[in-house]
Amino acid sequence: LGSDRAAEVRALIRDVPGYPHDPIVFRDITPLLADGEALRDVVEAFARLCEGSSDGATGHPVDVVAGMEARGFLLGAPLATRLGVGFVPLRKAGKLPPPVERVSYDLEYGSAAIELRTGTLPAGARVLLVDDVLATGGTAAAAAELVERCGGQVVAAAFLLELGGLGGRERLTGRVVETLLRVD
Ligand code: PRP
Ligand code: ADE
Repeated sequence: LGSDRAAEVRALIRDVPGYPHDPIVFRDITPLLADGEALRDVVEAFARLCEGSSDGATGHPVDVVAGMEARGFLLGAPLATRLGVGFVPLRKAGKLPPPVERVSYDLEYGSAAIELRTGTLPAGARVLLVDDVLATGGTAAAAAELVERCGGQVVAAAFLLELGGLGGRERLTGRVVETLLRVD
């Protein structure tokens, strides 16, 4: 996203102080999702991260996009379609039939566990992780561990919005982290 467009897209993310509880400021992407041009531009910006761009930026070629439930599905599935690759849902515990691998984690306002069905990923598949928000990085670190446990190779983790100051990047040290927007 260019800087002008980034500011417009940022304005479509609603900040909701005190939700789900103080002192969290919830970043609600539903206005952005409801705007066709913004959704298209975000998906296109993610695609350029994978394909590289004409101004010389190197890409991260991938075989599969993996999205974290639920908001990672909303951005990851259209990205997979755009790239012409498959989409793999990393689901909250208890939603997928066995056999599954499970990884538990903490996030900014609670804890959860995610699962992936054993055998979903081709061995050695190059996987792009996609989610809307990078906060503490707990979800993304768990997602990366889950993908690797299931035989995939995490080439990068891509987020629409990075919340600075919560340690997300540090949690993912050693991994390629791409974010389209950032707030401090
Ligand atoms: C949110 C968000 C990320 C995660 C980021 O999901 O969509 O997945 O939290 O937080 P972290 O970096 O501290 O782990 P949430 O678990 O609320 O689920 P949802 O998408 O189903 O609302
Ligand atoms: N996931 C973790 N922290 C969040 C926040 N502040 N807003 C939206 N999603 C989140």
